[in-house]
Amino acid sequence: MQKVIIIGAGLAGMSASVALAEHGISCALISLQNSERAQSVLAEGGINASLNTMGENDTVQNHYEDTLRGGVYLADPNAVQNLTGHAPEIVRWLEKLGVPFNMTDSDIMLRNFGGQKKKRTAYARSSTGKIIMTALIDEVRRHEASGLVQRYPHHEFIGLLIENQGCQGVRIQDTYTGKITDFKGIVLLCSGGMNGIFPGMTTGTTQNSGDVTATVFRQGVKLGNLEMLQYHPTTIGISGKRCLVTEAARGEGGRLYIMRNGQKYHFMEEKYPELGNLMPRDVVAREMYFIRRELGGEVFLDMTELSSETWQKKLSDLRQEIMHYLSLDPKSDPIPVREGIHYFMGGIDTDEYHRTNIQNLYASGECTCQYHGANRLGGNSMLGALYGGRKSAETIIETAEFDTEENQEVSASVPGKASPVLIQEISQILLSGLGIVRNQETLQNALNMLDVLKNQREYSFYEQNRLLLAEAMLRSALERRESRGAHYREDYPDKDENFRKTTIAEYKNQVQISFREIPEKRADT
Ligand code: FUM
Repeated sequence: MQKVIIIGAGLAGMSASVALAEHGISCALISLQNSERAQSVLAEGGINASLNTMGENDTVQNHYEDTLRGGVYLADPNAVQNLTGHAPEIVRWLEKLGVPFNMTDSDIMLRNFGGQKKKRTAYARSSTGKIIMTALIDEVRRHEASGLVQRYPHHEFIGLLIENQGCQGVRIQDTYTGKITDFKGIVLLCSGGMNGIFPGMTTGTTQNSGDVTATVFRQGVKLGNLEMLQYHPTTIGISGKRCLVTEAARGEGGRLYIMRNGQKYHFMEEKYPELGNLMPRDVVAREMYFIRRELGGEVFLDMTELSSETWQKKLSDLRQEIMHYLSLDPKSDPIPVREGIHYFMGGIDTDEYHRTNIQNLYASGECTCQYHGANRLGGNSMLGALYGGRKSAETIIETAEFDTEENQEVSASVPGKASPVLIQEISQILLSGLGIVRNQETLQNALNMLDVLKNQREYSFYEQNRLLLAEAMLRSALERRESRGAHYREDYPDKDENFRKTTIAEYKNQVQISFREIPEKRADT
């Protein structure tokens, strides 16, 4: 019988399972898909750590400061200190697991990434996520063989089992057999981002439907900073989704431009001479949006000046992908790019130890909100997932009281999933309010449209959950009357220190929004 039940088998879930197993704690690793198909395999550009292998005098302090500044000081500084402080150790651990990072003659090679002045991003060509996942899957299998990790792919989360305001376990359905089981134990949610609420507009897998977040919200779990959606500046439209063109393309020298008076106008380089094309993502995405609005036409990413060696050793996968999808060779042709929804800085609210507001319920990875504030730096996502998984496992080991109740097969009916039509309707409403640029009127209109939709027909349990989550996202954005990071309000274009707080969304028969102070930085972190 497992002691911990982990929902999600991407980087965060697997990292937690390994940390638990190393301490002799058993876990069930439950996921809708195999790890091989988790969102984490789509991560391209790399993972940040101040390894200082490039002779640039990088330090943990620099990484800490860049992460906080990039997130416009909305992240928990103690959590960020832990994250950045452990980053070198995490990357060295991956190296030991056999991840074939690109190397200098003697050590791990690092590349430039957005919002950081030092080379700090370790990478494996432009398939870093897939390559790290391969190594981690192997490591999990080792613990599976010893009986400490039990994997349940093709099993779907139905809901938390909550009694006396504490979490007792989760209800799960085997999607192949239909069998429903109540898994009893401590629960760790590693269920990823909410990409599925934006079909066609996201670089992520829509298998990360957002249903877990929506359901636990309905069950009383607090969510934070839901208004903070990351638009990645460089994506291309392919059938049914946005395909990521990794930031590494700009890290290796790719340049953004738009045509103005018949000339190439390198708007990022002119406006931001220091970081240019590698400004944080929120800034680049916004500038692209504004420049298109001003001049018309498309923004292009020009990678034609990259050397053959760079293409061959550092970005070979990217070149193949672009040739495959666009029938253009980026070695010789600039490619048109647009912003696409890439990451959710907001999600389940936890403290720096990954505890939620419900006893015995923990969360880590993209489904949470503590590390990235108002805008995540590229390269910090895999780090957040790997470190967060490990940190939550440590908290569980140190503090949790393990139950010995057996899992139980139950006969229960499972409510129907949200219909594709409703998902599209909600998505259109959300996009109308939560674009790169927002204002009171568009947000209020979106809320009004959502209200009309809510009253149009009867909805299943999961459909109601999604409608509530959508309302919470829009209300969070409406209440944040300032501009910060990914949340840009035309009607409040400046940052307002009164809003340097976490937006908390809570469901108590209705959606409620409040603001919570950011913790002070402690001397011991
Ligand atoms: O552009 C990228 O390769 C994305 C990396 C990230 O989101 O961390």
